[in-house]
This record gives sequence, structure tokens and C-alpha cells, in this order.
Amino acid sequence: MGRVYTLSLAELLQVLQSLGVEANILDVSHEVAVIDCSTTLDLPALQRRLGGIIKILKIVDVVKKREQDSVNFALKNYFKPSVIKTNFLKSTTGKIQFGVSVYLLNNIENIFGEPKRLGMFIKRAMQDTGSSIRLVLPEFNSLALASVVVTHNQLTVKGAEICVIAATNKVYVAKTVTVQDFEDYGRRDYQRPVRDDVRGMMPPKVAQSMLNLIGVQRGATLLDPFCGIGTIVQEGALLDYKMVGTDIDKFAIQGCEKNLEWFRNRYKVPKGKYHIEVSDAKNVSTFIKHLKEIKAITEVTGIVTEGTLGPLYSHKFPSPGEISQNFANLGSLYATCFDDFNKFLQPKSKIAITIPAYKKSLTEYIMFPTLDFARVYGYNIVSVIDQKVAKTLPFLRVTPRGTVIYDRKDQIVAREIVVFEKT
Ligand SMILES: C[S@@+](CC[C@H](N)C(=O)[O-])C[C@H]1O[C@@H](n2cnc3c(N)ncnc32)[C@H](O)[C@@H]1O
Repeated sequence: MGRVYTLSLAELLQVLQSLGVEANILDVSHEVAVIDCSTTLDLPALQRRLGGIIKILKIVDVVKKREQDSVNFALKNYFKPSVIKTNFLKSTTGKIQFGVSVYLLNNIENIFGEPKRLGMFIKRAMQDTGSSIRLVLPEFNSLALASVVVTHNQLTVKGAEICVIAATNKVYVAKTVTVQDFEDYGRRDYQRPVRDDVRGMMPPKVAQSMLNLIGVQRGATLLDPFCGIGTIVQEGALLDYKMVGTDIDKFAIQGCEKNLEWFRNRYKVPKGKYHIEVSDAKNVSTFIKHLKEIKAITEVTGIVTEGTLGPLYSHKFPSPGEISQNFANLGSLYATCFDDFNKFLQPKSKIAITIPAYKKSLTEYIMFPTLDFARVYGYNIVSVIDQKVAKTLPFLRVTPRGTVIYDRKDQIVAREIVVFEKT
């Protein structure tokens, strides 16, 4: 899972549910989730769809382990050449590249050096059978290979990344099937003709996660009423939604149009997939009405948006007075918007929106005092991860009100992601 693992898991569970897959979480930690799925999945397609998932592995075996044993010891009889060849390698001709990564489900001590020991063991076993083999290991103190390394060494094509997922009393042995296309995400972010560092842009991965969180079927129409230069609009179009994007700022809309023109050509998105217009989010219903009248859209099924976060404070933490003023300003803006959304959203429609959370320390935030701006207009919070599941997994960072915070180390203003459902 990605760095903001709570968001990764929330997104994954929601997408599996939308695909009609029964997903049973067998084991999960802050880096890896082991999930039993009721159906066979198209893993490359799933990988492309998920912004928060770095690698998808297929579990090949589960090996018992005694608590006192090292992972290496538990697997000492496992990696026989015949097992490696049948379970992990597509072909054994030519030079084989393989890597080893270890993921932890619990805090197992003395794990340092384990990928190297396992890797050397596998390498020797294979060399004894006459195979030519190159071993790729995690760098520095890391236990797992970065997706960049897996891709650059073509491990999933020319060999395998063998992953070992270690718990106290068992070890899952798995093989990497797909890794996130980090180069393409970079292109979708940095190669756009227009960027806007002043108002801020959402990373495409996060936009994708938010779009996935509301679980709307593909082909439906979604709205971003604070679209800026269009990250959510582009990612929505790529996920096969019809997108409507509006923003109060005409320069943002001009930038958005340029970006979408570039995006459309690059990713072969048909032109009718999106509609962009200057509009105040407080009366976006007027533009929606117009689009319906000209039959450009039929219904708006959901809203996904990075609403304005207020001032971004890159150096100095704002004073308590400034913070409460920002919350008051945004609260009244959003109240008017949610009232307006009622003019076109149907009951049960969902809204995923970011609101600011001021980061006091690594884990402490000053959060929006109340979400009444939505509640009074008939919108309830839907927990990003089912509360019952979240209770059994206390390491998850679901906030007490069922939201999740996406932050970056160096940012004062983090984004709290809230999902609402209209009653
Ligand atoms: C954080 S930016 C959104 C960035 C966008 N998600 C992106 O990645 O490009 C917030 C946007 O809200 C817009 N905005 C502020 N007040 C607005 C209002 N009342 N109605 C519509 N847009 C508004 C700003 O012009 C700005 O482009």
C-alpha cells in the first residue's frame, strides 16, 4: 500500500466492492494487506485503476513459522529449484533477474538482512541447476524493493520479484504480478502544459483515490465544482467517467482547458467526456441545468472535489485566530454550495471533498470543528472504511468522524478527505 495506507486500503476495499468482489482481509499491516477474493481479478486493470496501491502480489504459498524462528529459518526447505521454476518464473531461458522483498505483518525483531540471506539462498539453489541468475536486493536498510527498481530491472517480465510477507506464526510467499506505473503518474502530473503552484494541485494518484472512494459505476457523470487546472477531471475521464469541471477563476479554467486538450490527445480521451466552465460553486446548479437542457449530460451522480483549502501557509504555522477565521469562511462557502448541490443531486448520491486540517505535529492536526455545513443540508458522513472493520484494525488512521487525512511531511495544510452521502 502507499504511504497514506488508510486511504490505500479504503480505496481498495471500495473498488473491490464496486467490482462485486467479496474481499476477506486475512492479514493487514501499515504496508501490506493480504486479501482473499471471491473471483479472479484482472490485476493489471486493477493496478491502473488504484492510485494508492504500489504493488499487487499473488500469494503462492503459506508456510508455518514458529514464533522464535527467523523468516529465513522457516523457509529453509521451501525454495527448491523446482518450486522456484514452477511457482515464480515464467521462463528459465536466458539470464534470469530476480529480486527479494520482505513485508512485515507484525513487529518482528531482527529482520534486517533477511532479503539478502533469502536472495543468496535462492541464487545458489538456481546456480546449482546451471541457471544464469542476477539478484536484485533492496537498498540501504530497506526490506522491500521500490516499484521503480522492480520496473527498471524488468523483474516481472524477465524473472520474478519474490515477496515474503512475514507474520509471527506464518509466512506468505508471494510473487509480484504488477507494480504502479510511476512514470505515467509523473507524466500526468508534471508534463501538463499548465501547472498552478499558487492555488495548489492535487497529485493525480490522490485524485484517483478520491474518485474511487465514492464507488460510482463507470460511465456516470461526476462533477468537480472547484476544478482548478483539472486534475480530478482528467483522472475521472481516464477512469471512464463523464466529467463536469467548474471553477470561479477564468484563468484556472483556461489552464484546465489547455491541460485537458493535452491529456485528451495523449490518453485518447474522446472530447465529449468532459465539460468545463467558469462558475461559482455556490450556484453551479445553473450550469448543470444548462448541460441537461442541451442534453450534454443526463444526471450528475456524484461530486469529487478538492475545495479551496484557504491560505496554504508554506512557512509559518497560522495563529489560532487565522485558523478559526479560515474555518468560518470555508464553512459558510461550503454551506451555500451543499445547499445548491441539493438542486441536482439525487438521494444516496455521494460527495468526496477535501477540507483543510492544520498539521501541528506528525500525528496531531487542528481539524474543521464541525461538518454541519453539509449535515444541515441532509448530507451524512460515510466512514471511508466501514467502522466495524476499522475498529478491528486500530493501526488504521481513520479519524473519529470516519474521515482520512492525506498529508505530506513538509506541508502545514493537510487535506482531510470526507465522504458524504445525501439522505
Ligand atoms: C485547491 S484548488 C483546486 C485544484 C485542483 N484540484 C487541481 O488539482 O487543479 C481550489 C480551486 O477552487 C477555486 N475556487 C475558490 N472559490 C471558488 C468558488 N466559490 N467557486 C468555484 N471555485 C472556487 C479556486 O479558483 C481554485 O482553483
